[in-house]
Amino acid sequence: MKIILTGIQPSGTLHLGNYFGAMQPAIEMQEQFQAVYFIADYHALTSVTKADDLRRFTFDVAAGFLACGLDPQRTILFRQSDVAQVHELAWMLSVVTPMGLLERAHSYKDKIAQGAETNHGLFAYPVLMAADILLYNSDLVPVGKDQKQHLEIARDIAQKFNDRFGPVFKLPEPVIRESTAIVPGIDGRKMSKSYGNIIPLFGEEKEIKKPVMGIKTDSTPIDQPKQIEGTVLGQLMQAVNADAYQDFVAQAATPGTGYGDLKKKLLTEIEKRFQPFQEKYRHYQAHPGEVEAILKDGATRARALALPVLEKARRATGLTQ
Ligand code: ADP
Ligand code: TRP
Repeated sequence: MKIILTGIQPSGTLHLGNYFGAMQPAIEMQEQFQAVYFIADYHALTSVTKADDLRRFTFDVAAGFLACGLDPQRTILFRQSDVAQVHELAWMLSVVTPMGLLERAHSYKDKIAQGAETNHGLFAYPVLMAADILLYNSDLVPVGKDQKQHLEIARDIAQKFNDRFGPVFKLPEPVIRESTAIVPGIDGRKMSKSYGNIIPLFGEEKEIKKPVMGIKTDSTPIDQPKQIEGTVLGQLMQAVNADAYQDFVAQAATPGTGYGDLKKKLLTEIEKRFQPFQEKYRHYQAHPGEVEAILKDGATRARALALPVLEKARRATGLTQ
């Protein structure tokens, strides 16, 4: 069975954009492939600076995926740092990685342009990502568009390694999610934790209600029909409950319906859709040992995939006698 692998950075609160853009598709794919999903805590260390935050975000991502339907029997779910061998491979890859390849990485250049303090972790980020992908013999790697270049870099590095040391790595195929799936935030920009415009996937009722009631709308008066196709409200309703969308558009077009009513309707649909996930999420939050056991088991299975590949690379380079 083909291996599908992806990493999820534990860098903040999970939101509806993460769910529709990354989590739901990843969970669907566990039916068709051997899915290998890990929480990229080493990568998150480039942006998360507090130990307690990193621990909490890592746990929350694991609990979130499990709550939303990831099946830990079938899918390998693990914490990146539980298979530290990835760094040994990253080193072997770094010796075939030209500086120019990393200097051209958009994510790195963006950080410089934003005036961020650069460091070797940010620079070497794509090498560690290549090691993640190659260590587990991945066939397919689903990612958002922003990660496309990192996958190209991973393929380049694999090819360079094979050219120098012999055919060790399978070249992974990227699966790029297109921008049509972008979920808007409450201010109309892409929903992103860095914009402070998110609707959280999990949380107390009021934590979800507040941003929903704060969704940006125009100033059409209550007695006028409202056009909500293509607006944030419309797009969110379409994502949350496509079957209810036409009725929602009709309701909006009925004079006398205010934006407050439409937001309440959306809130009800969000609650309905995510209620079962919320319950499972609360269960895992109350039983962290269950999540930890799943991650440990995942790491054992991930290591079993990784060790033969690592050994092959060690032999090819001459590290193994
Ligand atoms: P954020 O933008 O909040 O920092 P991340 O970059 O950590 O989110 O995204 C994690 C995953 O969720 C990525 O695969 C990304 O493609 C997906 N994702 C994030 N925001 C959205 C969104 N608004 N719409 C669709 N997918 C999204
Ligand atoms: N860099 C990815 C992101 O920010 C996360 C990631 C780390 C990843 N290693 C990976 C994704 C390997 C796919 C494959 O979204």
